[in-house]
Amino acid sequence: MKIIKTKKFILRPMSLKDSKDLVKNMNNWKVIQNLSALPFPYELKHARKFSGKIEKEMKKELPKDYVMVIEIEGEVVGAIGAHKIVPGHKAEMGYWLAEKHWGRGVMSEAVTKFMAHIFSNFKLRRIYAKAYAHNKGSMRVMEKVGMQFEGIERKGALKNGKYIDCYVYAKTK
Ligand SMILES: CC(C)(COP(=O)(O)OP(=O)(O)OC[C@H]1O[C@@H](n2cnc3c(N)ncnc32)[C@H](O)[C@@H]1OP(=O)(O)O)[C@@H](O)C(=O)NCCC(=O)NCCS
Repeated sequence: MKIIKTKKFILRPMSLKDSKDLVKNMNNWKVIQNLSALPFPYELKHARKFSGKIEKEMKKELPKDYVMVIEIEGEVVGAIGAHKIVPGHKAEMGYWLAEKHWGRGVMSEAVTKFMAHIFSNFKLRRIYAKAYAHNKGSMRVMEKVGMQFEGIERKGALKNGKYIDCYVYAKTK
């Protein structure tokens, strides 16, 4: 399976062994509040269930989910995933990074590499992602990697008991 190395990080497929680091870096409300369908606190059982499922899924010939982790100095500090993959057509992307690494251009670079990889690997024509209305950082990442703003899904997400507008971005080929 694909491994991408840059000066800043290594991007490689997620495995069950990553669970401990996932908890360490995801169990942070500033991260979780921006991601859909995740429990808080985020515990080892949650990380094991998710990473185990992903590891298994990615062994299939046509996986529906494809998730790579961002590793810096031997620690898993983030992830980027393609979900609802329709080979030859489209996928939905999601990503997060540990707070200690924010603001250094890591995610813009990692998303660029990840998108190039999955466009080619799954012969995609469209990669889309949705950011909650308050998430200016994520919208900026999507602009920087060449995705275009398509519109707002009003009250498109239910998070923490509130309906939130979702900003939809996409890149097509
Ligand atoms: C959003 C997130 C992925 C950004 O990662 P990052 O590595 O810090 O992003 P980068 O350093 O590549 O920054 C990209 C751009 O966004 C800007 N940016 C980052 N955080 C920002 C914020 N909170 N508000 C406004 N702009 C912000 C940066 O200044 C940079 O723009 P610039 O180059 O024009 O200065 C990270 O903050 C995160 O994981 N947040 C929690 C989870 C999340 O929101 N995931 C996305 C769900 S849609």
